[in-house]
Amino acid sequence: MARFKTLDQADVNNKRVLVRADLNVPVKEGRVTDATRLVRLAPTLTDLANKGARVIVLSHFDRPKGQRVPEMSLKPIAAALAKEVGKAVAFAEDCIGPAAEKVVNALQPGQIAVLENLRYHTGEEANDAAFIKALAALGDIYVNDAFSAAHRAHASTEGLAHVLPAYAGRQMQAELEALTAALEQPQKPVMAIVGGSKISTKLDVLTNLAAKVDVLVIGGGMANTFLNAQGVAIGKSLCEKDLADTARAILESAKKAGCDIFLPSDAVVADGLKEGVATQTVAINAVPADKMILDVGPATVKALKDKLATCKTLLWNGPLGAFEVKPFDAATFAVAHHAADLVKKGSLIAVAGGGDTVGALNGAGVGDKLTYVSTAGGAFLEWMEGKELPGVKALG
Ligand code: 3PG
Repeated sequence: MARFKTLDQADVNNKRVLVRADLNVPVKEGRVTDATRLVRLAPTLTDLANKGARVIVLSHFDRPKGQRVPEMSLKPIAAALAKEVGKAVAFAEDCIGPAAEKVVNALQPGQIAVLENLRYHTGEEANDAAFIKALAALGDIYVNDAFSAAHRAHASTEGLAHVLPAYAGRQMQAELEALTAALEQPQKPVMAIVGGSKISTKLDVLTNLAAKVDVLVIGGGMANTFLNAQGVAIGKSLCEKDLADTARAILESAKKAGCDIFLPSDAVVADGLKEGVATQTVAINAVPADKMILDVGPATVKALKDKLATCKTLLWNGPLGAFEVKPFDAATFAVAHHAADLVKKGSLIAVAGGGDTVGALNGAGVGDKLTYVSTAGGAFLEWMEGKELPGVKALG
């Protein structure tokens, strides 16, 4: 991990502080439907405001590709952010130029403003020098609190760190500390659970983890691709048959690295993915030809829980079954509760992240009971792939 400066080392009093946040939150009909990213950002903004900074929040929202797309305005999100920080948040209709300058110049120490979507300008994604200069003209100090956008080498996530004194915000700091504890300097043995439907999106994750962790649990639809590659009949289940050689190569490299690969020994099967559908629990070598595997079975859950109890660190990305539809949430929820219990007992460090994972853990009611749950999607995956994230590197 790159070494970085934190807010404890920054003198922000009366300074204009540009905070790169990730306000890319789910919105439906102009309302924020999940404010987790805003809740996590609030401590950084409050800390800076309490220290007398003039706080200027920069973010992208969605992918407008250099156009002013009204549905992708940050205005409603700025209003939702005001609720989280418990004070007024000003809004500028542009992130550079006269509209931005007017709002920034009017800020008093301790006040906060959000500037309009950075991606209304092509210079953001192009990491363009003139755009970086225009942003930098609005601030004295740069704080990056957007780990979830740190896999992008954009003007506000990477470029700005080279032209202004740069610091990690509280959320970025917490995220980097948790991720380091989980994968870079973990307490061993380490278990990684990787689930989700396809291995094609997680090949690099699986390859990197197989070289680093002690136990690699493969669940979700992607387990079927591994089972099929080993000659197990999986009926109508989701499977990437063309990746059989790749799956075998991952199994082989794990074996060489001394990583124990854990695949399901039983499964819950049904005709299809429908609520209330009749289900059957079968041994993994007895999946009927006309059925689909939709969750791992109880014997697998028991073995997984026993194994987890012997581990000191858990890194989790992706559900074990089709958790959005009952009863195929059973295995994911059972393992999530077990992990939360072990964390509570103090015997396990459990770090989870990536799109579906947060939804699954929240569904199980343990979203706040693991050691750290990241709100990052793509950035969390790239980090699990072992890649250096440009936004993190630039802080070093
Ligand atoms: C995310 O939601 O994962 C981040 O905000 C990054 O968004 P992007 O994939 O559009 O760069």
